[in-house]
This record gives sequence, structure tokens and C-alpha cells, in this order.
Amino acid sequence: MPTPTSTAKLSFNDKTYDLPMMSPTIGPDVIDIRKLYVDADVFTFDPGFTSTAACESAITFIDGDKGELLHRGYPIEQLAAKSSYLEVCYLLLYGELPTADQLVDFTERVRRHTMVHEQMHYFFRGFRRDSHPMATMVGVVGAMSAFYHDSLDINDPWQREVAAIRMIAKLPTIAAMAYKYSVGQPFVYPKNALDYAGNFLHMCFAVPAEDFVVNPVLAKALDRIMMLHADHEQNASTSTVRLAGSSGANPFACIAAGIACLWGPAHGGANQACLEMLREIGTVDRIPEYIAKAKDKNSGFRLMGFGHRVYKNFDPRATVLKESADEVLEMLGIRDNPTLQVAKELERIALQDDYFISKKLYPNVDFYSGIILDAMGFPTSMFTPIFAIARTVGWISQWKEMIAEQNQKIGRPRQLYVGAPKRNYVDITKR
Ligand code: ACO
Repeated sequence: MPTPTSTAKLSFNDKTYDLPMMSPTIGPDVIDIRKLYVDADVFTFDPGFTSTAACESAITFIDGDKGELLHRGYPIEQLAAKSSYLEVCYLLLYGELPTADQLVDFTERVRRHTMVHEQMHYFFRGFRRDSHPMATMVGVVGAMSAFYHDSLDINDPWQREVAAIRMIAKLPTIAAMAYKYSVGQPFVYPKNALDYAGNFLHMCFAVPAEDFVVNPVLAKALDRIMMLHADHEQNASTSTVRLAGSSGANPFACIAAGIACLWGPAHGGANQACLEMLREIGTVDRIPEYIAKAKDKNSGFRLMGFGHRVYKNFDPRATVLKESADEVLEMLGIRDNPTLQVAKELERIALQDDYFISKKLYPNVDFYSGIILDAMGFPTSMFTPIFAIARTVGWISQWKEMIAEQNQKIGRPRQLYVGAPKRNYVDITKR
């Protein structure tokens, strides 16, 4: 915990309270209000956590105004250009870039854990075939705590480590199985000779009846999508994982909670919602109608894939993915795709429109990831599961950081109560 650098003063009801202020490595100073309730008998009110730091963390830093994203200090653009998903996983988990030997060892450890317990295959069969893969994943990842009893003790650093590797290794297998189950095809076992992204493409698209060769350009693009989604500071799903973990819940249960939160259309579900919106728009001439709807407060409609809680300039991940999208579509020879034409025109119009400019609404990472995943052949229902695979390392790194903290407390927000005052029970015959 940084030592206080100065003091903020808060005055009300003729009293003044001194609040310690702490300076982070980068970013705005933080006012420590932990003793405020004890000292002054008041709570603070910040329902969407827009001005509240809920924890101390050394993993990821975002400057929303500059459009900057750093993992352990390294800019995302440099990682996207030079690194790989598993190397970024190592960086997030252990704090430093690995040496060549450390990366080989880490890759090998992940590789050795890609298969799931065989009995899990029967567990999958209990789901309806038309279940959304995210629904299946929430259930199956939660159920991992029923299969891997030897990595449930959160007080044992070794068990925490094994649980982390298991989840990074098995999430692609589970997501691919959820997909295969939904299309009625046999499960494809992991092929450990392939790299992380290539293995996932293989498990999703191979069938026993014929050979499947992983396209290296698509594997690289998928690896990059995963890298760009690996962690994002204290977003909704990460905060969910931390809150669940603060009670001492086991790691598999915590990650299942994160997956459930990620599914929402305002968060990870936006990539699916975005592509569905582009398809609904259908043709370029209908774009003005949708732009008008997005500006109309009463319509309840938002342009999916636009806007971000933290980035108010641009989303650096979107800039990288826009390039990837061009590469992948060029390689696949997709230029006349109507969805793509709608996406490009929507992006052009929205970036020139006063409403979007004044509210700082730019295409976010989901806008481009959906276009790439669609071109790769993934159905929209698999977009959020792929996000979940990628974000697992972020969730786990943040969870491990929290558990390792001394004096870690259960998360327990307070409230501004606006319900009925105390009143007496009225007998049912008298109501
Ligand atoms: N389309 C139209 N208007 C929008 C949009 C949008 N996509 N996003 C925000 N606005 C408007 C709001 O109506 C609001 O207008 P007002 O000030 O006149 O009331 C203003 O911009 C600010 O919006 P908030 O909801 O206060 O912004 P917040 O930071 O809470 O929301 C969010 C961020 C949830 C991402 C929002 O922009 C949104 O719903 N976008 C669409 C969903 C999406 O793409 N989510 C993915 C996020 S990235 C990720 O999770 C990886």
C-alpha cells in the first residue's frame, strides 16, 4: 500500500476530516476514505464506481483520455506487434516478460492441461443442444470445482497456481466443446502440437471425417484478438471475480461468476450484439435510420460496438484490430460482404457525426473483433465465449493478486437506503 503523500479535507456539519491521499505510479491521486464511516458516520455514494478505486493493483493501467493501455507497464500496441497470447499470459500472471526458457516451460505446462476430465463429456450432454455456449460455459466452468478437488484450497499458493494453469489451458477446450455440442458434431480433443489459438480453431472446425489444416494467418489473428482481450483493469467481470473471490470462494466458482457477468450486452456480449445489429441494418442505405435511433433517447437503442466507460478518446485495442480485420478480410478475399460494407460505412458516418464526436463515442474493440470472428467462420454466439477464453488470464491474475494480499477483506459495499421506514406488520385480514 503506498504511503500517503498529502491530505484532503472534507468539511460538513461544522467539522473537518483529514483524509490521506495516495499517489499511484501513474494516474490520478486517490483519497483514502476507509475510515470515513467510523470517524464521520457517513457513506460515500458511487453506484457505477465511476470515481471509486475498489482495490490496489499492479497489473494493468488504462488512461482513457490518452487512449493508453499498459500491461505491467508495457503498451498494448507493442505487445500486439511483438508478443503472443501465452507470453502476455505469463506477463500478467507473474509480472515480468518471460525469458525464452521460462516461456517454453510455461507453454508446456499449459499444453499439458488442455484435456478436460472425461466425465465432463457426460456433463455437457445434460444441456439442451440449443443452449447458448456462454450458458454452457458458466455451468461447466463452475462445475470444474466438482472435478478438480486438488486445486480448490485458496490458501495454498501451489493449488492457486495449478487452478490458474488449468483454467487457461481448459477454457478453449470447454468453449470448443460447447460449440460442437450446439451444432451436433462430435467433440474434438485438443492437439497439443498446435499453438494456443491454432488448437482452438482445430477443436472448433475439425471433424473426424476429414483432415483440417489450421490457417496460420487466422491463427495469428485469433492470437492477437486474445492478446487484446487478456486483461482490462477493474472492468465489470473482473470486479465480479474479485468480489466473488473476496468471500473465499474457490477459483473455478469465481471465474464462472466472471463469465456470467461478461455475457451482458453492455460488456462482452457487445461483440455478438454488434454483429447482429450490422446484419439487422443489412444495407448501407438504412444506416441513417439507425443513427437517428441511436440519438433518440426514447428509443432505448444504442449503436453496439461504440463507446466505452473508460476510453473517451479512442480504444487502442480497436486501432490494432482494425488493421487485423483488414488483413484477414484481404487474405480471405472478402470485400463485397454486405455486413462488412455496413460496418465500414457506419464507422465512417459515426466518426463524422456531431452527436458521436461530442459524446466521444468511438468504435470499440468489439466492433472489429466481431467482424474478424465472423470472417473466420465463427457464429455470433461464439464471439463472447472467445472473449471469455482470452479474459480468463486477466481474471485469474487479478484474483491471485487479491488473494495474496495481506489483510484482504470480504467485499461489502454499503447503500443509500430509500425504502420504507420501520413499520409494524399488518395482519393479512387487515390489508
Ligand atoms: N450509442 C449511442 N449513444 C451512446 C452509446 C452508444 N453506443 N454509448 C453511450 N451513448 C450516449 C448515452 O446515451 C449518454 O448520452 P447522454 O449523456 O446524453 O445521456 C452518453 O453517451 C454517455 O453514456 P453512458 O451510458 O453514461 O456511458 P457509460 O460510460 O456508462 O457506458 C458503455 C459505456 C456501456 C460501453 C456504452 O457506451 C454502451 O452501452 N455501448 C454499447 C455497448 C458496447 O459496445 N459495449 C462494449 C464495451 S467494450 C467491452 O466491454 C470490451
